[in-house]
Amino acid sequence: MCGIIGYVGNKEASPILHESLRKLEYRGYDSYGFATIDKNKVWIRKGKGKISDAGFEKIPGTIGIAHTRWATHGNVSKANSHPHLDCQKKLAIIHNGIIENFDKLKKGLVRRGHKLRSQTDSEIIAHLLEENMDAGLENALKRVMGIIEGRSAILVVKDDFDGIVAARKGSPIIVGVGDNEYFIASDIPAFLKKTNNVMYIDDGEMVVIENGKTPRFVNIETGKSISKRLIKIDWDTTQAEKGDYAHFMIKEIMEQKETILRAINQDDKEIQKVAKAINNAFGVFLTGCGTAGNVCHTGEYIFSKIAKKHVNYAVSSEFPSYDDFIAKKTLVLTVSQSGETADLLEAVTDAKKKGAKVISLVNVKGSTLDRVSDSTFLINAGPEKAVASTKATTAQLAIMYLLAYASAGKLNEGKRMLLDVASKTNDMLNPRYDERIRKIAEKIYKKKNIYIIGRSTNYPMALESAIKIMEVSYIHAHGFAAGELKHGPIALIDKGAPVIVLCGDESDKDSISNAMEVKARGGLIIGVGPKKYDVFDHWIKTPDVGVGSPMVNIIPVQLLAYHLGVLRGCNIDMPRNLAKSVTVK
Ligand code: M6R
Repeated sequence: MCGIIGYVGNKEASPILHESLRKLEYRGYDSYGFATIDKNKVWIRKGKGKISDAGFEKIPGTIGIAHTRWATHGNVSKANSHPHLDCQKKLAIIHNGIIENFDKLKKGLVRRGHKLRSQTDSEIIAHLLEENMDAGLENALKRVMGIIEGRSAILVVKDDFDGIVAARKGSPIIVGVGDNEYFIASDIPAFLKKTNNVMYIDDGEMVVIENGKTPRFVNIETGKSISKRLIKIDWDTTQAEKGDYAHFMIKEIMEQKETILRAINQDDKEIQKVAKAINNAFGVFLTGCGTAGNVCHTGEYIFSKIAKKHVNYAVSSEFPSYDDFIAKKTLVLTVSQSGETADLLEAVTDAKKKGAKVISLVNVKGSTLDRVSDSTFLINAGPEKAVASTKATTAQLAIMYLLAYASAGKLNEGKRMLLDVASKTNDMLNPRYDERIRKIAEKIYKKKNIYIIGRSTNYPMALESAIKIMEVSYIHAHGFAAGELKHGPIALIDKGAPVIVLCGDESDKDSISNAMEVKARGGLIIGVGPKKYDVFDHWIKTPDVGVGSPMVNIIPVQLLAYHLGVLRGCNIDMPRNLAKSVTVK
């Protein structure tokens, strides 16, 4: 969470930082701030709220840093927004991460006479640097990185230094190399319009970017220099724009016409190789968070149905409770859009320590997960900007199917099934379909609760439907295994309570019985599936794709969530309290 960007060059820094920060807003949008260096002075501007709602205010200097915040420690306020200064206002820092031993360090600083101006954990970095400045800026940062605990990425500017010093422990930062100018950011899109040449900073490394000089990378612990390769990123900047769409979310939902097809386009040999590794592993774990976690949960069913193989699913934040089962021959299959989710990266570090092999399905090439995994399948969905994940979900599911089919020795059958899904999704996503779903949204957008039920692979999709509806429309939504309803949740059903029933496989008969039980108690039944049943009050038709039904069923629910959010006047692409990549635990 939190977007960070720095600029070192000979152009005015503040307009460049302003533009870049707007591109990072999806990472956090509670407050923003800038610091530049000019005439041996630190210049600061900060504000509460979104950078896109703020007017541009120029500050002098060709070197600067900027931050967009997702609040962790301290409320949403101007005082708590970054950058933070030391007591003497000689240096400014921006930070992405959490300092786990902050309380103890803060007490020590206060005891030693430092005046802290915010409630954040991040501010203590500025004061710790101040205390260690006898060693010079670079060494002071090295020392501070040894003092603070937890995951962090830090950028520092100082009144008498013609550049930026930055360090990484856990949270990502990448250097963009332009023409006599350098960028350093938490995400590549921040500077992609200026350059697509990047240098990655790995964990435990620092970089010193001094104006007019080549960036110098150093290992924080040993102090040894590290040479870096210049890597060209082949991303298309227009993919990251909204175009004619009102929101990124609807654009990304519609892009599923092509993204499923792109996801299937994998190297067969690599799929077969990984499938073999899955078959030979001593235990397979699937792990991810949020929507990616739901994809893993679906994977558990997919492997069981298609490959007759038992794999275990654990949401990444719970993974530590299962790690006693991880051994050298265990295979951990991870799923992530961003490749930067802290809970997942912790699980991966844990698994690797125990000698397990890690294979990942990732969207963002060059992300931490991509780089630390033993092998990665890029899902090729293109940049996903809306906080609510949509096109990444179906692309991840597609590769999950490929692996399950390959593990069963039926890769070609799997490909045929997925090609059918891709082509039927293409037909389904037309304006008439969208309008039909919007009309259903009109009937239920004032409701306080929505329930979603499904069986088998459609059970994790019921959970995913609930995430989608909640995060985009702020309506309380709850997904259940359809058969579980009668064991408690049915008590919630009253007259007009909307219940979405996901159908489309051999378990339909039982799900429909559950829908009848709901209807008998006054519930409003919205059926999603290829077949229209009498119990449905509204029917959202999805194509018949057999075992691939979760992929086509989740798409209309994404559309429904979108329209519910629009009708309720919600901030669709940047829902309250959320951020696109969750880089804190
Ligand atoms: O980048 P990741 O796929 O690792 O992100 C995991 C979750 O934070 C993410 O899926 C989240 O649940 C989405 N906002 C859901 O739409």
